[in-house]
Amino acid sequence: MKRYSRITGTGSFLPPRRLTNADLVTELAGRGVETSDDWIVERTGIRARHFASDGVFSSDLGLEAAKNALAAAGRSAKDIDLIIVATSTPDMVFPSTACILQNKLGANGCAAFDVQAVCSGFVYALAVADSMIQTGAANCALVVGAEVFSRILDFNDRTTCVLFGDGAGAVVLEASKTPGILASDLHADGKHVGILCVPGHVSGGSISGDPLLKMDGQAVFKLAVGLLESAARATLAKAHLTEADIDWLVPHQANIRIMQSTARKLKMSMDKVVVTVEHHGNTSAASIPLALDTAVRSGQVKVGETLMLEGVGGGFTWGALLLIL
Ligand code: ACO
Repeated sequence: MKRYSRITGTGSFLPPRRLTNADLVTELAGRGVETSDDWIVERTGIRARHFASDGVFSSDLGLEAAKNALAAAGRSAKDIDLIIVATSTPDMVFPSTACILQNKLGANGCAAFDVQAVCSGFVYALAVADSMIQTGAANCALVVGAEVFSRILDFNDRTTCVLFGDGAGAVVLEASKTPGILASDLHADGKHVGILCVPGHVSGGSISGDPLLKMDGQAVFKLAVGLLESAARATLAKAHLTEADIDWLVPHQANIRIMQSTARKLKMSMDKVVVTVEHHGNTSAASIPLALDTAVRSGQVKVGETLMLEGVGGGFTWGALLLIL
């Protein structure tokens, strides 16, 4: 009998410090950086973001999201045999944030590692966990997206610093006789490294190069929509389904205009798209599980419905994953 993997619980967490666009406009004005609520809302759909306090790391945000997901699944840390954390803002160079989270959670002993695929990270991590469950390498996985992007933002660059926020989301993924995850489609193309990156690295005890986020927003936008459409279509083809079979699109929450364009290409109404970007901005690998958990807890999406998750990010990386909740 085929082994599937199925989401049995979702959770998320946003750090308490919330900045509305108006708050950020005021903070940036103090640095001589000019922006406005109107510009941010019109170009991105973002109205607020959350920033973690000093000393709070991705593992701390991930821990709260993981606890919520475990409670929703009726599971405890001892049930987990695999932890995958998708993050581009790890606590340390090493060990992985997954190992640090594992210890904080008290799930010591299970396999734990990070996936680094920037904003596609959660789709990558979920696809890897699905494969490991299908082969029998794991039975009960915790898959987390957690980020503190506020640490890598250049607050003198208005073209990027208004877009991102901190947060975490998590799912418990368990072996199941029924689907579950139906198909996924992952890609990367390293020739686009330069349009979205944090180019710095640690060398000889100090940081060499620029450790802050650099993005060519227009180049990212142009690439993103086509790649998201092709990944979604490839995933549907693998599952022998069509756009009409999707109940909900749960996209990476980067920008409302990218979500609208992707939905249009997939001939989906925005009524079928889960949108939470206005509340937390772009939280990179955390944004899909954050959106998913918000939609599950509000009753917007329901058990038994078919969801298309999709993300695109630095690398360039992109991917989509189709599942029955
Ligand atoms: N406030 C006010 N004005 C601004 C701001 C700001 N925060 N930022 C830029 N502007 C100005 C620019 O200087 C420019 O002014 P000019 O015409 O006088 O030169 C004008 O606004 C237009 O700038 P554009 O860059 O052309 O604005 P655009 O409409 O392309 O929107 C944006 C910019 C929102 C970044 C858009 O390109 C976008 O969403 N790109 C995709 C970004 C994205 O989704 N990235 C995440 C990928 S996921 C990951 O891996 C992290």
